[in-house]
Amino acid sequence: MSRSDSAAFIAGYPLKAHNTFGFDVCAQFACRIEHEAQLMAAVRDPRTAGLPRLVLGGGSNVVLTGDFAGLVLLVALQGRRMVREDHDAWYVEAAAGEPWHDFVAWTLSQGLPGLENLALIPGTVGAAPIQNIGAYGLEMCERFASLRAVELATGAVVELDAKACRFGYRDSFFKREGRDRFVITSVTFRLPKVWQPRAGYADIARELAAGGHADAAAPSAQAIFDAVVAVRRAKLPDPLQLGNAGSFFKNPVVEATQFEALKVKEPEVVSYPQPDGRVKLAAGWLIDRCGWKGRAMGAAAVHERQALVLVNRGGASGAEVLALAKAVQRDVLARFGVELEAEPVCL
Ligand code: EPU
Repeated sequence: MSRSDSAAFIAGYPLKAHNTFGFDVCAQFACRIEHEAQLMAAVRDPRTAGLPRLVLGGGSNVVLTGDFAGLVLLVALQGRRMVREDHDAWYVEAAAGEPWHDFVAWTLSQGLPGLENLALIPGTVGAAPIQNIGAYGLEMCERFASLRAVELATGAVVELDAKACRFGYRDSFFKREGRDRFVITSVTFRLPKVWQPRAGYADIARELAAGGHADAAAPSAQAIFDAVVAVRRAKLPDPLQLGNAGSFFKNPVVEATQFEALKVKEPEVVSYPQPDGRVKLAAGWLIDRCGWKGRAMGAAAVHERQALVLVNRGGASGAEVLALAKAVQRDVLARFGVELEAEPVCL
């Protein structure tokens, strides 16, 4: 084993800069992973054997409610490349530690469209499959080819295809049976050569039209990228300025009968019919309707422009954010009979 492949543990490591809520907590040990071999060394090291482990990329989908008594693996694996092409598609691979948005921008700069709707999503490439990130009419799973991961218990390297990852709406194998068992080290995306713009999402269509794009009816991938960036900047808080983890709740999916009854009481409810006959509701609308938009409990607050986002106004703890989330869930359940499920992983 070369020197750079051995694990360098740092004790009492501050995690404030490693979670986008900006919670001021510490890890008992942390280890920065720049090469896959360091990962193997870290998980096999007797000094931390038996301790709980937490993998952090950008820390953009996690609520840390206290100090972490275990080993935090800070995934900083870098690199991106075109791996191959076939008649129908290009295949591009990125290491897990690459910032997601930079990777999306890079694919476009290489003349490879397909990920533009997912511009400006915080976090890393390695975190993208875990919750199957999605926005403005596209989910990551639609561009996914495979991923490489290391199994923590054995150190074995595995390659998983889309079927094995069991992607769902903000969901995957890694949030269920595979939880805490793997470290994703790289992801390969399949970008079809026949590209179709996805500009139907209302906010994006409006932005393209308002931007006076000559090509608003048939936008380029770059125009969609720019529109997504503009819409996100206008609606969603920048974690560097106001701590947050994006949408705090999933949009709930209810049975058609429940939806019909709700629609009678609340005719304006924002909803999206699902292929299976059920109906997805806009959780932001439900929360907004309960009067929570812009309201705070201590230093934790519901964002003023998007009620689905909870923010840390400065100095909030994870527990405060969770208390606010509970209050929001209670009100939405009481008024609409709908349960909201948290999107980030709460530790
Ligand atoms: N709405 C309100 N009040 C609010 C927020 C939303 O009335 O405070 C209404 C909007 O007017 C709109 C509807 O609710 O009619 C949906 O709002 P929006 O288009 O902003 O999207 P969303 O359903 O709230 C989802 C994703 C976002 C993603 C956007 C765009 C989830 C949990 N969230 O939000 O993803 O960017 O669609 O596709 O699915 C994330 O996962 O972290 C995230 C930001």
